[in-house]
Amino acid sequence: MLSDCLAKEHQEGIAPDGQPFRIFTLTNAKGMKVQFMDWGATWISCQVPVGSEMREVLLGCQVNDYPKQQAYLGASIGRYANRIANSQFELNGKGYLLAANQNQHQLHGGQGFDRQRWYLEKCGGNSITFSHFSHDGDQGFPGNMHVFVTYSLSENNKVKIEYEAICDQDCPINLTNHAYFNLNNAVEGCDIRGHSLQLNADYFLPVDSAGIPNAELKSVEGTSFDFREEKPIGLDFLQEEQQLVKGYDHSFLLNQNDEKTCAILTALDRSLTMKVTTSQPALQVYTGNFLSATPNRQNGQYADYAGIALETQCLPDTPNHPEWWKYGGITKVGEKYYHWTKYQFIS
Ligand code: BGC
Repeated sequence: MLSDCLAKEHQEGIAPDGQPFRIFTLTNAKGMKVQFMDWGATWISCQVPVGSEMREVLLGCQVNDYPKQQAYLGASIGRYANRIANSQFELNGKGYLLAANQNQHQLHGGQGFDRQRWYLEKCGGNSITFSHFSHDGDQGFPGNMHVFVTYSLSENNKVKIEYEAICDQDCPINLTNHAYFNLNNAVEGCDIRGHSLQLNADYFLPVDSAGIPNAELKSVEGTSFDFREEKPIGLDFLQEEQQLVKGYDHSFLLNQNDEKTCAILTALDRSLTMKVTTSQPALQVYTGNFLSATPNRQNGQYADYAGIALETQCLPDTPNHPEWWKYGGITKVGEKYYHWTKYQFIS
């Protein structure tokens, strides 16, 4: 344990490596309280003051259930978030075969960063940095890679996540956090389709029933994917391409604005809004279409659509689409990968 860690730390449960999970709590003067765990560098709780109530807005489970659940609740995802088709790609004329974990495809990096114990690198009063080393060949990816995730909480109720990585070979890198939000009730998880969503995106990426991109970027104009004006998530639900994947589970290419607000999510009763800004080029919107059977914090289970994941990242399967490399996805040897995402809660 670092003696100069200013965040509150406690230990709980037993992780698959036989050691307890280490949990760190950050708070601000407004009373907001967020918690992070070293296993998977996971965001495990986000309590926001709304009137006189402290409201949990992040889906989560009991600590011992984190390694078992299949939904990637709040986890840091890498090396490559989202899917790589047929678990293979070619880079610099060389073919790479990855560890498949969703039929023949690789999802979220295989036995990825969400399943590792991260090292506590730095810890201050309002921020905490975890690091992880991924060796050459890990899950089939080239190069030795050092990765850092920093969480901070500001006084204006903003949670910032920064991702930093460096690799000693050219490698696909796509880091994100798999937080699911429910701004009304993330404890039981009421149906997220009553929330409203606005996205700063003119294009989305159609996928097949396995979630693999199967067409070019498509304009949202005149489709159920048009969130350029705020609308209830349930309004155009299960229309068009959504039918293949039980709802929204699609990547949206973010418009390039200075401020880069990428998403605004608002609770059903409008008591709370979350504004997401990011340096990342795209956003995977996943409406929790297969959440059922995911454990919650109370010995129960969430239902489908109990939370929405807004995963900032680059486009899926980019290693197999050189035409999308301009949006990121491949990091050159020695080049620093750096991205940030901020989630601001306004009540
Ligand atoms: C993917 C979903 C997948 C989920 C796993 C999301 O990022 O887009 O297809 O089912 O992760 O929890």
